[in-house]
Amino acid sequence: MKVIIPAAGIGSRLRPHTHTIPKSLLHVAGKPILAHILDTVATLEPKEIRIVTGFLGEKVREYVSSNYDLNTTFVEQRELLGLGYAVHMALSEADSGPALIILGDTIVDTDLSAFLAEGDNVLGLMKVDDPSRFGIAEIGDGKISALEEKPVEPKSNLALIGLYYVSDCRRLYESLGKLVTSDRRTRGEIQLTDALQNMIEAGVKFAPYTVDGWFDCGKRETLISTNRHLLEKLAPPIKIEGSVVIPPSYVAPSAQIEASVIGPYVSISDKARIKNSVIRNSIIGFEAEVRNVILTDSLVGHRATVFGDFKELNVGDSSEIGSL
Ligand code: G1P
Repeated sequence: MKVIIPAAGIGSRLRPHTHTIPKSLLHVAGKPILAHILDTVATLEPKEIRIVTGFLGEKVREYVSSNYDLNTTFVEQRELLGLGYAVHMALSEADSGPALIILGDTIVDTDLSAFLAEGDNVLGLMKVDDPSRFGIAEIGDGKISALEEKPVEPKSNLALIGLYYVSDCRRLYESLGKLVTSDRRTRGEIQLTDALQNMIEAGVKFAPYTVDGWFDCGKRETLISTNRHLLEKLAPPIKIEGSVVIPPSYVAPSAQIEASVIGPYVSISDKARIKNSVIRNSIIGFEAEVRNVILTDSLVGHRATVFGDFKELNVGDSSEIGSL
């Protein structure tokens, strides 16, 4: 089986952080979003992983190559024409056999082996409150009867969560190819949902699989709440002399913490330095420096410096913000 991870999106809702790092490398619960995905995918021992990169793609390549020993190839998507276009680029006429597609900003709480065992073709779904923001599935006779991308009047509240399994990726490639060749777009983009809907209309059966949890990483609030959920599951209690760490929290072993109260729900990346501060429900980047601050619900970028009297911040990489 091959795994395809489309990770070319520019992450505009996560600026300023995505000015300097691609969205899939933003940290959550101690490691990049992409690392959560790769660690889960690696347990399936896929033959090959293809990652579609875009803006700042070289950083994704560098991160994966220096941290993982997996058979990974990278496909550069220059034109952001939609998810369908990205997946079409990742495949070729020479491909056959099964493929698992996981979106590069999707952390899913589910047993992937059970997902794959559900059928020849399976789509991950979850009930949502705001279905018009997603690809929506209708179900009939235990299988998916129709899909529609971000409908104005949704016929169900079951959203496609960005987890797709097809047993014959050649067929998907051809279905996507038709959309690309005729430049058929929905909401301005070549949609994976449309290619799958065309397959359903041609008689291909897709099984629905509802996941236990789906953690959105699309904007600051959801990244921080994803951090919270993952820490609850992952983080072992930590003790640091002279400071208090309230679980669940993650503190990288190379971070320096002095006279501070950290947590709950805080992740602190490698080589960050925290002094005389109280931090709650926040993510602190690599080599960031935080001193004399009380922070809640904040994202502090890599190598950023924060000091003084703040409560809630969204500070990009390499910035300095302080009040004396
Ligand atoms: C994409 C898919 C959509 C799916 C969503 C999940 O949309 O096109 O069908 O529901 O991911 O996150 P996007 O979020 O890229 O607009």
